[in-house]
This record gives sequence, C-alpha cells and structure tokens, in this order.
Amino acid sequence: MELNYKEKLKQIFSGKNIKAYVHSFGCQLNVSDGEKIKGILKETGCSFTDKPEDAGIIIFNTCAVRESAEERVFGIIGSMKKLKAENPDLIIGVSGCMTAQEKNLERIKKSYPQVDIVLGTSAISSLPRLIYEHLESNKLEYDISEYADFSCNAEQVRESSFKASVPIMFGCNNFCTYCIVPYVRGRERSRASADIISEVTQLVNQGYKEIMLLGQNVNSYGKDLENDLTFPELLRKINEIEGDFIIRFMSSHPKDAKKELLDAILECEKVAKHLHLPVQSGSNSILKAMNRNYTVEKYLETVDYLRSRDSGFSLTTDIIVGFPNETDEEFQDTVKLIKQVEYDNIYSFIYSKRSGTKASMIEDSTPEEVKSHRLRELLEVQKEISDRHYRRFIGKTMRVLADGKSKKREGFLTGKSNEFIIAEFTGDESLIGQFVNIKVTDSMNWAVTGKII
Ligand code: SAH
Ligand code: SF4
Ligand code: F3S
Repeated sequence: MELNYKEKLKQIFSGKNIKAYVHSFGCQLNVSDGEKIKGILKETGCSFTDKPEDAGIIIFNTCAVRESAEERVFGIIGSMKKLKAENPDLIIGVSGCMTAQEKNLERIKKSYPQVDIVLGTSAISSLPRLIYEHLESNKLEYDISEYADFSCNAEQVRESSFKASVPIMFGCNNFCTYCIVPYVRGRERSRASADIISEVTQLVNQGYKEIMLLGQNVNSYGKDLENDLTFPELLRKINEIEGDFIIRFMSSHPKDAKKELLDAILECEKVAKHLHLPVQSGSNSILKAMNRNYTVEKYLETVDYLRSRDSGFSLTTDIIVGFPNETDEEFQDTVKLIKQVEYDNIYSFIYSKRSGTKASMIEDSTPEEVKSHRLRELLEVQKEISDRHYRRFIGKTMRVLADGKSKKREGFLTGKSNEFIIAEFTGDESLIGQFVNIKVTDSMNWAVTGKII
C-alpha cells in the first residue's frame, strides 16, 4: 500500500531535482529515525541539502524531553514562514516525539499554517502517503496513530560512513515520574535478535567501525519476545561477528544493570569499556520520588563491581537537578555521589515540567534561581573531577576512532577512545574513519591531546 505512494511520488518528483532538509533534535534514537526518514525520501527520488533555503521538503524531527527543546522547535518552525512565503510549493513536515502530544498538534493547527505534514513516531512509513495527500488537498495532513509500524524497515541514509547506530528496541515501560518518553514513544518493543545481528554483520562488512546499539533501556531488551536472546546474550553474539569494530550501547537503566550484563561488557573484547549509567540523583528520597527503583547503595555496588574488575573502567551519567521540592541536603547527596563515583563526564539538566507526567502534578516550591545555582555547582565539581580523571591517561597509549577535524584546534583531528574520551591529535585527514593508536601527551577537562604512534 505505502509502496504505491512512494512510486507515485517518484513520478511526480521526476525531473524536478527535489532536495530535502531533515533536521533531527533529541536523542540518538531520534537521529536514527531521521536517517530512516531520509531513506524513504531517497526512495522517492529526493536528494539532500543542509540548507533549508535550498530545500523543496523540510522535515523537523522533534524531541519533547524538556520544554526548552519544544520551544526551540516552535521558534524554528515559526521562522520558516518566510521561506514558505517565498516558495509556496515548499513542503514542511514535523515528525518525532512532539507530534505524539495532542496539545502540540493543536498548536500547529492553530498557529503554524506553514506546516503541511505531521508524522507520528510510529508512522514514519506513512510519509510518502502524507506528502501525496497533501499535494492533492493542499491542507495539513497528519498520521499520529500509535504503533502502526514501530520498526520501520526503511534503509537508513546514514550521516557517517564509519559509525552506525542500530536501534534494538523502541519505547519505554519505566515511567520515571519526570519523563515524557513513555507517553510519546509507547511501550517497549524489541526487534528480533536475528534481524539485529544480520544488520550489524552487514554494517561491519561495509566497513563500519563503531556500532551503537540503541534503546531507552537496552537492559530490558527481549523481555517482550518469546524465545529470543537477553541483552547480555545479544552483546556476546554481536561480539562474535568477525571484523575490527567497537560495540557501544545506550542507555542502561541502573535497576537492570545485573552482573550478567556487567560480565558480558567486561569479557567481550569488542565492547567498549565504558558504561553510560544515568543515576539522575544521589538522594534515595528523590530516587524514590522519581520511581527509579534502585538506591544509591545498589548503584554504587554496580560501580564497585566494574571498577574491581577493571580499575580504569569509564563511567558517564545523566543527572537532573531541581526535581520538585529537592532540598539542599538532597542536592548535596548528588554532589557527594559524583565525587565518589568520579565520572569521566556527566550530562546534567534542570528539571523540566512535562504535562501528563506524575511529577508535573507535584506543587514545587524550589525557586528557579536555586536550581540554576545547583546546576552550576554540579558542573564546577565535575569539571575538577574530569580534569583530574583525564590526567590519568597522560603518558599512556590510547586507541581512538578518528572521526573528524577538530573544530577547536586548527590542524588537529578528533576522535573518541574506547573509554568514550575525546582525543585530539595531529594527523592526516585520510585517517578519518580509522582506528589509530595515540600516545597521550596532555589533557584538559574535556579532552586529551596525543600523538599518533
Ligand atoms: N532512557 C534514558 C534517558 C532518556 S532522556 C535513560 O533512562 O537513561 C535523557 C535524559 O534526559 C534522562 O536521563 C534525564 O536525565 C533527562 N530528562 C528526562 N526527562 C527530563 C525532564 N523532565 N527534565 C529534565 N531532564 C529530563
Ligand atoms: Fe524516561 Fe525513565 Fe524511560 Fe529513561 S527509563 S526513557 S528516563 S521513563
Ligand atoms: Fe527526545 Fe524523544 Fe529521544 S523525547 S530524548 S527524541 S525519545
């Protein structure tokens, strides 16, 4: 059915040299969906541009995780009014997590007449139909049906020729009280392991050097499937695929980071010795209010186990400051925790109220200035930790996947080490996309500097 629309569009677009601009916001799962959207557009005969003003089709693939992300998108869509006035044939679409909320659809209908298409997170394969119907009706066309086609099989038009992300599951069942994701992405659905393994094998054979397995909580991979692998088993199977490549994954929920998983990470030589383990808070009372289902003590057991087996094991985390009514003491518990764990890096956010979530119903008495102040304090503490932590690499050899030219330093290449540390080094551009060994000569609080050996 949908195939027909692809063919129809191909005929309509034929000879018109239509360029598409697809911009994804938010997490890597969304970026991966953006690559599928590009895959579908490519099949209708479109090419791509990174300039909206050159495009015949513009798609904003949105994120709803924080209010600031949503407002930014509305600002950008607003600014498209001018382009639409200059080119009435321009097709503007909005996809991604923001579309799953009725209020956003209503706001688009009411205040953004320049939008032609709204494409729900489970409706990616309906894109050709929506474009076709819009061309017929010249009205806003939308499909926000849930779970219509959760694992759209469109071939991805990948941004990189050496780093590939592979979604292994969609949705989330955890309902952390602050989080909108379960509402906009639905319940957990895993892809069959055979499909994942064959996709990874193909990517490795094509020369991809880094495979990033994606899910909102990869540790619960397979729980919804009968007779399929668990996540640790999947990791071990992917590790057996022949070739020189590195395996990463995100995100892991601490409540499900069991010994079986940690052993698989430690024992599989291709799996990066780095874990992104979002802790969110260092206070048990806040963790309880967040419905995270673990305690600080349990979390630290996981950290201790990893570091007892591999003292250099790298950890990163996400932290929310200013959860409703978080006290100074509770915040200080978070500071204490990050000092204790010594993360290589933290991603910290001020709590953002998301309507529809449980936490949004809590009356919050903490002023915004207090929250901003806490965020600054946390970043200061972490800066000092990262600085000290990165210094441990000086004089050591590091294996790095070179991934581009440094934006900060002329003549330098940049890349990520196995431990997920940014490394900058001098080298020829032809090395981009390859593994190089460097000797670390210096460090900063955001990266290390080295020389290729
Ligand atoms: N599934 C992933 C996280 C997805 S969202 C996980 O559980 O690890 C990425 C991060 O955004 C979260 O880890 C959290 O730190 C942050 N986040 C989610 N909802 C938020 C909110 N309402 N306000 C502020 N930060 C939020
Ligand atoms: Fe959100 Fe929690 Fe699910 Fe992560 S695990 S996506 S934070 S509900
Ligand atoms: Fe944002 Fe949706 Fe990802 S809300 S963080 S883009 S799953």
